[in-house]
Amino acid sequence: MASLGCEDIQVNEKGHLLLGGCDAVDLAGEFGTPLYVIDEAAVRRNCRLFRQAFPRVIYASKALMTMAICRLVEEEGLCLDVVSGGELYTALAAGFPPERIYFHGNNKSRDELALALEAGVGQIVVDNFWELELLAGLTEGMGRGADIFLRVTPGIEAHTHEYIKTGQIDSKFGFTLPGGQALQAVKAVADIPGLRLRGLHSHIGSQVFQVQPYAEAAGVLMDFLDEVRENTGLVLEEINLGGGFGIYYVPGDAPLPPAVYGQAVQAVVGEKAREYGLPEPRVAVEPGRSIVGPAGTTLYTVGSIKEITGVRRYVAVDGGMADNIRPALYQARYRAVLANRVYDGPQEVVSITGKCCESGDMLIWDAELPALKPGDLVAVLCTGAYGYSMASNYNRLPRPAMVLVRDGQADRIVRRETYQDLVSHDVMPARLRTGS
Ligand code: LLP
Repeated sequence: MASLGCEDIQVNEKGHLLLGGCDAVDLAGEFGTPLYVIDEAAVRRNCRLFRQAFPRVIYASKALMTMAICRLVEEEGLCLDVVSGGELYTALAAGFPPERIYFHGNNKSRDELALALEAGVGQIVVDNFWELELLAGLTEGMGRGADIFLRVTPGIEAHTHEYIKTGQIDSKFGFTLPGGQALQAVKAVADIPGLRLRGLHSHIGSQVFQVQPYAEAAGVLMDFLDEVRENTGLVLEEINLGGGFGIYYVPGDAPLPPAVYGQAVQAVVGEKAREYGLPEPRVAVEPGRSIVGPAGTTLYTVGSIKEITGVRRYVAVDGGMADNIRPALYQARYRAVLANRVYDGPQEVVSITGKCCESGDMLIWDAELPALKPGDLVAVLCTGAYGYSMASNYNRLPRPAMVLVRDGQADRIVRRETYQDLVSHDVMPARLRTGS
């Protein structure tokens, strides 16, 4: 079974890193750095691995959202998870079929919900009672119904970073299952004429390497499916187990093939369905990181180098926390290679830092790399997920461009921001204008 690791890197006869058949040095020359590079074949392969493992796969677009990425996952037959008006707008602008969109979010506004209903979004994943109230008003006012899911917190602890675990009881997301809040929500839906309850959703966390929490979540949702039928007569047709499947960033990370999760979950669902005499619901998952993370590489140019004898060698690159906040925010770890001399063996331990005015602006602590000098091209691997999507203009750094590479061809899918872009939203009040 194929796994979700970073592919072994490819190198050409010049000793340059190859990405989707493109020479990384040429890419940097043509598009500049920092540069996000997305390998199309890897995205498609990951989509297919999930589709072989689960009956329904919904790409969590928060991991990486651009119009071109929407098109790729659409072509691969996936559905799409969006969590804001902005993500929804991007999907619609890319022509993604609205009936294949799941709209998530713990605080959707009335306007966002109206946009979704108007566009004919297929599934709204309702998070709380306030949202039910908003939907009751909107569906009545617009004379339109909506298919909905209820997001529930199953009370399962995933072993991952505190900020990215979500399935535990003490969470801002969803209706709490233990204690009856979720059942109360099911009953509330039954009283709203415009809403059709189709299924349940839960998400336990992100960058999770164990199968067990998913199997447990499936079991908890199946128990609740039975409770729902007992109490309301309603037989729900889909359970969505969310995303969170861990990927390989650094040695020690041990991702599992999607099929392993699929088999374990499907076994629990089958068993519980028989036990309760329920039809087997369709099992859906929402991978984000595991679709795009391993497919992405960020290219940076080395600039200043600071040696503190006996302490550390800091190698600064032309990006950093503005294009990848993950190391600063979650102590996330990455691997890097010297893209213009991949075959040179490791010669020194250096720390790769960014160019932001902040000590925490580090990309990698203690990377073993060949001796680096200004102008070298460093490739940080597996950056496809939550890099661009969490990028900022901190220190007014323009956000990098993104290219999609395939079979030696590179297409720009995000234009590099310019200094003009940076000031384009600023407004100078008349009374502050020079000379006024
Ligand atoms: N479904 C729901 C409801 C989610 O909240 C998430 C992630 C996903 C699916 C996709 O999870 P994935 O397969 O990508 O792990 N910014 C953090 C990750 C936050 C994830 C939030 N929700 C990071 O950079 O690690």
